[in-house]
Amino acid sequence: MPELERDFRKAVVYQVYVKSFCDTNGDGLGDLPGITSKLDYLKHLGIDYLWLTPFYPSPQRDNGYDVSDYCAVDPTYGTMADFEELVAQARKRGIGIMLDMVLCHTSVKHEWFRRALMGEERYRNYYILRDGRGSTGPDDPGEPPTNWQCVFGGSAWEWVPRLGKWYLHLHDRSQPDLDWRNPEVRDELVNVVRFWREKGVSGFRFDVVNLISKPEVFEDVPGSGSACRSLVADGPHVHEFLKELVERSGIDGMMTVGEMASTNLKNCVRYTNPAEHELGQVFNFHHLKVDYKDGNKWALQEPDIAKMRAIFSTWQEGMQMGGGTNALFWCNHDQPRAITRFGGRERVGELGGSWEKVGKTLALCTHLMQGVPYIFQGEEIGTTNAGFTAIDQFRDVETFNNYRTLLSEGKTEAEALTIVNERSRDNGRTPMQWTAEKNAGFTTGKPWIGLPDNYDRVNVEAEIDKPGTLWSFYRELIALRKEHEVISHGTVRFVDAGPAAPKVVAYERGVAGEHLLVLCSFDGAPCRVSCEDSVVDLARSEVLVGNYDDVQADAASDTVTLRPYESVAFIQR
Ligand code: NOJ
Ligand code: CA
Repeated sequence: MPELERDFRKAVVYQVYVKSFCDTNGDGLGDLPGITSKLDYLKHLGIDYLWLTPFYPSPQRDNGYDVSDYCAVDPTYGTMADFEELVAQARKRGIGIMLDMVLCHTSVKHEWFRRALMGEERYRNYYILRDGRGSTGPDDPGEPPTNWQCVFGGSAWEWVPRLGKWYLHLHDRSQPDLDWRNPEVRDELVNVVRFWREKGVSGFRFDVVNLISKPEVFEDVPGSGSACRSLVADGPHVHEFLKELVERSGIDGMMTVGEMASTNLKNCVRYTNPAEHELGQVFNFHHLKVDYKDGNKWALQEPDIAKMRAIFSTWQEGMQMGGGTNALFWCNHDQPRAITRFGGRERVGELGGSWEKVGKTLALCTHLMQGVPYIFQGEEIGTTNAGFTAIDQFRDVETFNNYRTLLSEGKTEAEALTIVNERSRDNGRTPMQWTAEKNAGFTTGKPWIGLPDNYDRVNVEAEIDKPGTLWSFYRELIALRKEHEVISHGTVRFVDAGPAAPKVVAYERGVAGEHLLVLCSFDGAPCRVSCEDSVVDLARSEVLVGNYDDVQADAASDTVTLRPYESVAFIQR
């Protein structure tokens, strides 16, 4: 049996959005046997770990991130036996399964919350219940305890007449937050993680895990209330709670990653420095907010590449200095497709010239950085945004809430549709495109959500094992990380590409006498990079990997001319 990759810096993780990967029984929803049937595909691509989004019983208000039973399989996705088979088959191929642990909140349909609603003291203490502001007694809700807004829009508090209290939900109102200060809650959650570890799971992704420790004092935040996330993020006991969970559930040293909302570098160093015994890597989202106008996700703006470069540089060099590890990614099930976002809808929407180049530049840019690369299903074939034409084609609660808000703010339906088309999480949730056949070979039934029209050209069959395709480029990058110490373990330093390359991300990697210079242009026009700031001497280096057939390097002037969305890595030995 092939060994699992235990040197995580050599590993690449692939994220499967279970609902949209492969449907084997024609109900239009992906399932666990579907994933098992595609393990050979994943092995061939070269990935080491597979992160599965939640497949536990759930009312699906937030597509499974509203869990009603942590230790079971939702029949929609299969059975526990199917899960065990998936783990065993993956293991046979040297692939480890990572599970999504949604431990910050439950669903309102979870037994704990149901029992809390019945008034059972023990379970009332599992959640965060408060009196209303200005309330005169249990029959009078008063106002919500604070002005906090939940992530999907609207108050973060819900009134329960039966209890005479408000409960806190940082996400949808069907997702009440657990009170991690309660040791009984922490015991329960340790048992959940242990349960899956004992089933042979090789790693875990922890959902919004830096929101588990709430502030000591609940108070209003300035403005509309959406700033509450920064107030709640990285709370007073978060490191202590994480350490306890990791130690007691016996997962220290396993492949783990935490999703960190509104976090900062200092905390992420602590979350991931091995001496802290917390997590392996962290996702942070700062580089994915560079196209939010004034920080507002629902206001469009072209990506600010200079800002993105500064963020990458801070996080790459900062995590290195603190001994932490970044998860490297552009896409997941909460993000629009990066290829559309960073390549421009007009340019890649109709799969014009730059689509494949943009896809390769995105891949090269993150895969050669320091950390652990994550590929989201479909990224390896260049899946684009959905391009829906009517609001009823969407499925996501966040999209609907914000569409309504946009209309109430005076946007026309057409304007609001344009915005949600760019920003909706559903862009990342459309079915995996396997073939050019009906529904892209995802299902024989009716898919639960539609697909981008271009799947007849963007699909696995069209890409796999063909020279020059985006898929082949991904496979090459995965293999390069395993072969080259400089990629997996090298130091990182960001390089100034000079004034004639404003949209270029440039960095260097280095290890014992070997150096890489990585140049990635996010510019639709040609530009000229000065390599003066780099230790790599163009005259003594060769191209390791790039997305054009040749390079336009001039050793005499120490410059490289990059064509639209060109990316290249030079190696000097
Ligand atoms: C982050 C998950 O990735 C997202 O899909 C979900 O809605 C929230 N956490 C709440 O669990
Ligand atoms: Ca199915």
